[in-house]
Amino acid sequence: MPEKDVTVLPEAPIPSMEDYILAGGGRGLERALTMTPEQVVDEIARSGLRGRGGAGFPTGRKWASVRDAGPDQPVYLVCNGAEGEPGTFKDRTLLTRNPYQLVEGVLVARHAIGARRAYIGVKERFTRERERLADALAGAAVAGWEGVDAVEVVAGPDEYLYGEESAMIEVIEHKLPMPRILPPYMQGLFATMTSPNPTAVNNVETLSHVARILAHGADEFRSVGTEEAPGTMVFTVVGDCDNPGVYELPLGTPMRTLVEDIAGARDVKAIYSGTSNAVILPSLLDLPMDFDSFREAGTGLGSGGFMVYGAHRDIVQVVSMLARFLAIESCGQCLACKLGTGVIFERLDRLVAGEGTATDVEEIRKRCVTVTDGNRCYLPVGAALTVASTLDAFGDDFAARIGNPSDPAVAVGVPKIHDIDPDTGTVLYDEDYDRKRADWSYAPADG
Ligand SMILES: Cc1cc2nc3c(=O)[nH]c(=O)nc-3n(C[C@H](O)[C@H](O)[C@H](O)COP(=O)(O)O)c2cc1C
Ligand code: SF4
Repeated sequence: MPEKDVTVLPEAPIPSMEDYILAGGGRGLERALTMTPEQVVDEIARSGLRGRGGAGFPTGRKWASVRDAGPDQPVYLVCNGAEGEPGTFKDRTLLTRNPYQLVEGVLVARHAIGARRAYIGVKERFTRERERLADALAGAAVAGWEGVDAVEVVAGPDEYLYGEESAMIEVIEHKLPMPRILPPYMQGLFATMTSPNPTAVNNVETLSHVARILAHGADEFRSVGTEEAPGTMVFTVVGDCDNPGVYELPLGTPMRTLVEDIAGARDVKAIYSGTSNAVILPSLLDLPMDFDSFREAGTGLGSGGFMVYGAHRDIVQVVSMLARFLAIESCGQCLACKLGTGVIFERLDRLVAGEGTATDVEEIRKRCVTVTDGNRCYLPVGAALTVASTLDAFGDDFAARIGNPSDPAVAVGVPKIHDIDPDTGTVLYDEDYDRKRADWSYAPADG
């Protein structure tokens, strides 16, 4: 545990707004409202908070750019609670255990950037989380929290791209989750040719930290974590380990502590931190978990979700499973992405079936270079990084798979988490995903 309590994830769900306030909740917003918006942005910048949604972008800098564009035109805030990354369950855990803290963070951010309205985007299928959010918003209204009338929950589709920030804006505007060409700070919610409406999009965990930072101050936040990545992060671990689950640790903690000591993984062959980063080999287990250390090691921390695979797994089957997910989820606005991710998966699948040749391996390599041509969003970059790095690191495994089918007994499915039982730690995955097709329709269920 960190020396100072800057944690955002309570051990058990906070039952009501009254309990949250009794435990000191609401002080962050109270303090923020005594400060000017500029002072709040400065406090967040001073805290060194970096986005927990995948890229680790400094939150203070994001807010300043939106705010500065603001005075003469509408600006908006979006809280990203789509959580579609395989192997990640931290935002739903935060939403279930403490939605009050998130609503407080949203209201602090709304004040700081001067947002006209704030939207919290979650998935329609997150029924428990939506109920908790509705309770928190009702509680905030009773408590008289300023700005709560301007906050709305949006229930979106199950697609992975719903979590991509410009696609989430499209959904809030009642359209499909299709990424835009321009990012939200250039073309925000309800933008027109003459009114770009800059919009700040922040992850659920990021905004949960905001509430605590305002309550306890930037210095206290900085007393935990590293100089460049202060505070804690809420990590998820699934796959070949005894104790899969969601764990909060100071940034900078060695990955081994999380993966082996806490989650109980042994004999690790490969780890994937989501579907947007290069594969992590066991030789990197002592790497400190922070954005820059991971980037320097050639991979990324992503949203802190780790999919761990043991020595008995077939890495060609594992990466084929991840490639299938990306090929399905690609929206098809950019031809090289939809076709390229499709070909990458198809060739990997041939190898898994024992029907692949050296030509297939070569084609996969080539597509990893061209799949990003003209890309609107980061999805195909993730596909290229995930697949090419696995090919580089496990060339012998690919060679051994030529003409030699994978053993179905060691096959893994996509770890798209549906729920984690808080008592037993059992992870439930989305069983329907096997039936999802490349046009986002579903094949009929058997029987
Ligand atoms: C394909 C794709 C899916 C994404 N899914 C999510 C998601 O589910 N949740 C999330 O917070 N960010 C997701 N992101 C990142 C967002 O676009 C955005 O960077 C993030 O919400 C910013 O919040 P932060 O600055 O607080 O990290 C995704 C990005 C891509 C390219
Ligand atoms: S890069 Fe791929 S996923 Fe992103 S917008 Fe283009 S086709 Fe869609």
